[in-house]
Amino acid sequence: MPRPIALPTPVLGSEPPAGLEESLAGLRDEFLLRFGGVSGAADRAVRTFFSPGRVNMFGGHLDYNGGPVLPVAIDRGTFLAVRPAGEEGLIRLMTVFGDDVFEGKIDALPPAASGKWFDYPVGVIRALLADGSRGLSGGFDVLFGGNLPVGAGLSSSASITVGTAFALDQVFGLGLDPMDRVAAALDAERGYVGVQCGIMDPFAVGFAREKQVLWLDCKDESFEHLPLDFKKLSIGVMDTGVQRALARGEFNRRVAECKAAFEALKHLAPGATVLRDVPRETVEAHVDSLDPDVAKRALHVVQEVERTFRAREAFLAEDFVELGKAMTETHRSFQTLYECSCEELDVLVDAAVAQDGVYGSRLTGAGFGGCIVMLVAAGAEEEVSRGVADAFEARYGRRPPAAFFQGDAGPREVRIPR
Ligand code: GLA
Repeated sequence: MPRPIALPTPVLGSEPPAGLEESLAGLRDEFLLRFGGVSGAADRAVRTFFSPGRVNMFGGHLDYNGGPVLPVAIDRGTFLAVRPAGEEGLIRLMTVFGDDVFEGKIDALPPAASGKWFDYPVGVIRALLADGSRGLSGGFDVLFGGNLPVGAGLSSSASITVGTAFALDQVFGLGLDPMDRVAAALDAERGYVGVQCGIMDPFAVGFAREKQVLWLDCKDESFEHLPLDFKKLSIGVMDTGVQRALARGEFNRRVAECKAAFEALKHLAPGATVLRDVPRETVEAHVDSLDPDVAKRALHVVQEVERTFRAREAFLAEDFVELGKAMTETHRSFQTLYECSCEELDVLVDAAVAQDGVYGSRLTGAGFGGCIVMLVAAGAEEEVSRGVADAFEARYGRRPPAAFFQGDAGPREVRIPR
């Protein structure tokens, strides 16, 4: 198998990325180069898919506490080229971004994660196989690519896991519904990769709808699509370029601290099944009885729940000033109570909220590095990204990339002309 030089991983940029059809045609050519096949039957058997990333705007670190969240999918994500590979059951997975190749038999997939990128799709395949009625059998080859920065808080992980479930569903006719795909993605992340993430990211990707944001109540998994008028408001993202090696450990620690808070407080809130159910006053009245870090995390959660409901009202009323205020307050709480920000993120947020045309800003994703999100008045995008980049450059000597988004329609097959 030829192994062409790995491409650099994607970065955000002010230029719009190349069109999907063009990008996926390139991926299909690369697939044929790596896995073999010439124009004709082999070529036609390769199917190509797109799966978006997401920005989470409201409800920070609430999903695994059963709270409400408001994310939106973005038109950057994972590209997949897939072709069934016969009855021998050999699965081969490659990425254009690196040299690590996965090869394994469908009936002998590794039981433990390897720490490599392909743990995500392998975890999904294992989840789909665990339900023997799904009819996934025979081997296949997949080449992954994409235009989403990895590890930047834009959910490259849900993009690849939901995308894998979606593409295999289409290629093998597995009859999955969107909830099945979300479940396979969650199984892969929690049970195989080992990140105790909440449900927000795979929901945001798997249930995305064009020009709409998702209101998701993570306690009962009820959700609703809310329209956003992108003629008035733009969703901006800027990347610090900081990737924290410790982020996964810190994330799991936050999950454990919230669990500890709930265990300590639940007897004070009859009927509570998640930390979100514990009244704010109860947490505030008992902070002294908790470990100081646990107390701070719990305070963030109960205040963030209130703030997110407030944000929902402001969103529905198109009160962007109030909406932006709630967003920036979340960032302040991330700095002081949840302690999941970092200096570069704070510099970007401070610079963002100082610009005319910015209603509010916060870190997006889990934090500890990665991107900020900004609510920007439509028309002010260029000036805002220039102003924020100037401030960041004055401090760090480099300009952080920016992009503006209008939502995305969710995972889909992209048919390319032959
Ligand atoms: C990561 C996790 C999500 C969520 C956010 C924080 O993106 O994957 O489940 O907890 O962090 O809001």
